[in-house]
Amino acid sequence: MIITTALGRKVEVAANYTIDQPRDTYTRDEHDRWDRLYNRQVKILENRACDEVLDGLQVLNLAKGGIPNFADISKKLMALTGWSIAPVPDLVPDEVFFEHLANRRFPAACFIRSEDQLDYIEEPDIFHDIFGHVPLLSQPVFADFLARFGQLGLEAMKNNTLKYLARVYWFTVEFGLIETAGGLRIYGAGIASSKGESVFSLEDSAPGRLPFDLLQVLRTPYQNNRVQDRYFVVSDFEQLFLALENSFADVVSEAKRLGDLEHIYS
Ligand SMILES: [Fe+2]
Repeated sequence: MIITTALGRKVEVAANYTIDQPRDTYTRDEHDRWDRLYNRQVKILENRACDEVLDGLQVLNLAKGGIPNFADISKKLMALTGWSIAPVPDLVPDEVFFEHLANRRFPAACFIRSEDQLDYIEEPDIFHDIFGHVPLLSQPVFADFLARFGQLGLEAMKNNTLKYLARVYWFTVEFGLIETAGGLRIYGAGIASSKGESVFSLEDSAPGRLPFDLLQVLRTPYQNNRVQDRYFVVSDFEQLFLALENSFADVVSEAKRLGDLEHIYS
């Protein structure tokens, strides 16, 4: 079917919004841009990202040069955690997104940001999706957590509780920090793929860094177009996985009953 994406692209996609990764149409400049982004960011993440992120980059061989081939990554992920990459043009509708996650497919944008967006791009491109998100999918506990999140997302669409699910995603998958033996580290993709926020999230004195608490996360609104003024810190990925277990629906009900916390950006 032919669709117009959230970013205004008119593309032919399969029923689940996937496309073939346009391997042949990436230009030399675009491959080179990936390499520059990769090399710059991997240096910044040294001693800032958690070991699981850094190991994932290694295991998936994302440093080999040029825009990665999704099929190669999928083969490796499949063997490690049963996940694969679903190439999509850009943002996909919520239901499609959750459906992919629930089935252990990560929808990844195929386009790469332009030269003038090297430092910041609001919408997810291939660098954000692959460099930021995919390394952790090689880690079993996180991989299980994200598949479970996809199932809960599908349920949330029926129950009208999507805003709560979005907050969990935002404060963990995108902007989560983790406590490690070596100190505070980054695991969220929104941070890990951002030059500025990688440093800001750990080293700036302005933002709050609060222990992860599901009820508080569910009650905390966020804005998607600026650096965070608070981060939630998990003690390990097990804690993240357990947060979505049996009592999740009850905690959502409690969050609904108590209402949102005051908007954090005043
Ligand atoms: Fe993302």
